[in-house]
Parts: sequence; structure tokens; C-alpha cells
Amino acid sequence: MTNLDSQFKGKSVLVTGGMGFIGSNLAIRLCRAGADVTILDAMIPDYGGNEFNVHPIKNDVRINFCDIRDETAVNYLVRNQDYIFHLAGQVCHLMSLSNPFPDISINITGTAILMEALRKYNPDAIVVYTGTRGQYGSSVSLPVNEEAPTNPKGIYEISNLTAEKIIKVYNDVHHIPSVLLRLTNIYGPRSQMMHSRFGVFNWFIRKAMDNETIQVFGDGSILRDFCHVDDTVDAIMRASVTKAAYGEIFNVGSDIPVNFRELVEKIIKVAKRGSWQFAEFTPERKAQEPGDFYSDISKIKRIVGWEPRIELENGIANTIDYYEKYRDYYWTRVENAEPKGKETVKLSQAATAPKS
Ligand SMILES: NC(=O)c1ccc[n+]([C@@H]2O[C@H](COP(=O)([O-])OP(=O)(O)OC[C@H]3O[C@@H](n4cnc5c(N)ncnc54)[C@H](O)[C@@H]3O)[C@@H](O)[C@H]2O)c1
Repeated sequence: MTNLDSQFKGKSVLVTGGMGFIGSNLAIRLCRAGADVTILDAMIPDYGGNEFNVHPIKNDVRINFCDIRDETAVNYLVRNQDYIFHLAGQVCHLMSLSNPFPDISINITGTAILMEALRKYNPDAIVVYTGTRGQYGSSVSLPVNEEAPTNPKGIYEISNLTAEKIIKVYNDVHHIPSVLLRLTNIYGPRSQMMHSRFGVFNWFIRKAMDNETIQVFGDGSILRDFCHVDDTVDAIMRASVTKAAYGEIFNVGSDIPVNFRELVEKIIKVAKRGSWQFAEFTPERKAQEPGDFYSDISKIKRIVGWEPRIELENGIANTIDYYEKYRDYYWTRVENAEPKGKETVKLSQAATAPKS
């Protein structure tokens, strides 16, 4: 057990959104560290929750299938928790363009309900919130540090920025110690793989594994930084136990940018399958594309002592390994021998977790 993990032994923690991508990886690590883990998750269809995500710890965690906006449930669940990791949310920035209300309701109202519950019933708990790099909007200069202006380009990003500001008020006014993280593009095991609307990295992995053609929008030269979920979990845990981090905003990302062409080439090389081609941006994606972005992570390095350790190619290999083993819980195999045009169902529901 690492020194970091040992700090969670015997601690009570609540992970909101713990059936989702990042939340489940966090819950598994905390559980293995000896924490007493409770998960809150609404399992809204088509969002990121998947029962199989917590299969390795299913007998060791308490799972509450309830909504972050359920005041009565949240008031109860926050009691006696040492740490609250708040990851529940509507995370599809494209959906927020045509229907802004789930973001406003879940990400903003839900966060306010959580913080009010803490104010009333457990103001000593330590909170970590995972916002998004999208809160910055287009970069004014690169790499982007935490002082950069925030001009979000969508309702999802606005809702994350608002949630962050709500939590900051509870930190400053009500003295609920809270860390505010802005995550870059996160990839790795346990992300939903049913559609491409949550983030393209894992979608590219699926396309390559199915030996399909990956569409690279524009000329593929847009820069991004990518962070493996295990590094992300490490940042979340490390920030939560760093007193100097309370009340602070930190980027969580990588200071090694890559462009999308390089990224797909690496994925195809590691997967040993798949191909890619240029494609026109869809109008929605074009409208929301902020251009080049990569994170300045010097603040989190300095104050929290965190930096990413997983190199991109190793992270891609680890992600492919996971989905090779458990693909059937995330998407159904596509038989590439099938002739184009024949009526075949390519997207089917991911299987639910085994019962035992
Ligand atoms: N994955 C990324 O690249 C990334 C990047 C930046 C920020 N983030 C943020 O990190 C957090 C976690 O993201 P993720 O990628 O794990 O997403 P995810 O969709 O996999 O997980 C979110 C979980 O929240 C649950 N949830 C949604 N609405 C809920 C509600 N009303 N009540 C209770 N539970 C609800 C979902 O069922 C899901 O299990 C989100 O706040 C997201 O905005 C993620």
C-alpha cells in the first residue's frame, strides 16, 4: 500500500457518481486502501454509470442508487463522512447544446443540494470537485494556467464553472474544506463506450479495436493533453489530503500536448488494428471546439506534489487490455466481415454486470 493509500485506511468516503468512469476507478482504489466507501449514483440511462465498473468491489461498498438532487437522501448520506468526492454529473457537452436543463438541474442544483447538506450535517468533511478544462473556453495563451479567463463555450462547461463557484463559496464562507479540480481529457478503463458524445479518446480506442475507420475532424492538428484515469484518481486523492490545497483551483492534465493525428496514429499502432481519415466537423462540434488546449500543471505539482506518471502509449495499451477482457460489458463486438449495407445492429446495449 502506498503512503497516500494508507491515509484513507478506516476513513469514511462518499463518491457521488461512483458507478461512472472516474468515480468507479476512484472507489476501487479507495476500497483497496481500506476506506469505508459509499457510492451515490442515479444510473440515468445513457449516462456513464455501469454496474460492471464496480464489479471488483461489489461486496465491499455500499451503493445507493439515488439522485444527487434527492435532498432527503443526500442529507442522510453525507453524515459521518470524512471525504466527499463529488463526481456525479451530466457530462455530455454536446447534449447540453440542445437541452441545457439536465446540466442546470444536476450539475448546478445537485451541487448546491450537496453543499447545503454538508453545511447542515457535516461541515468538517473534505470535498473534492472535478470540473473541466472546458471552463476556460478558448485558450488565450498556452499552456493554460488557473489564472486564465473562463469563457465557457457551452452549458455543460458553464454548469461546471457554476458548481465550482458554489463550492468555493461554501469553502470560503462556511469553511467546508474543498478542492476544485479542472480535469483535462481523461481516458482509460471503465469509461462508457456506447457512443462518442462523452469524449473522443475512448471512442477512438473502440473504433480501432473494432478495426474501423477513425474520423479525425478538421486537419487533425488541434492540440490537447490527455491524462490516464489512474493518474487522475491519484490527483484527486492526493489533493484531498493536502491542507494547502483547500480552497484552491488546480488543473489536472499533462504538460505533454499531442495533436489528434498523432493520437490516432498511436492508438492504431498499439491496437495493431484500425485506420483513420479526415472528416468535416459537425456543425455542433465546430461551434464548441475551443482550439488548442493543454494544461499548465505547475500549480498542482508545487502544492499537491502530483504529476502524471503514465505515458500515453502505456496508457493506451492498458486501456485496450481492459476492454479486450471486458468488452462485452461495454459494447458488443462488431464482426468486420459483415458486408456494408446489410442490416446489422452495430450498437446494442452493454450487458449488465453478472449477478453473482
Ligand atoms: N471524463 C473526462 O474526460 C472528464 C473531463 C473533465 C471533467 N470531468 C468531470 O468528472 C466528473 C466525472 O466524469 P466521468 O467521466 O466519470 O463521467 P461519467 O458519466 O462516467 O460518470 C458520472 C456519473 O454520475 C452519475 N450521475 C449523473 N447524474 C446523476 C444524478 N442526477 N444523480 C446521481 N448520479 C448521477 C452517472 O450515472 C455516472 O455514473 C464529471 O463531473 C465530469 O464533468 C470528466
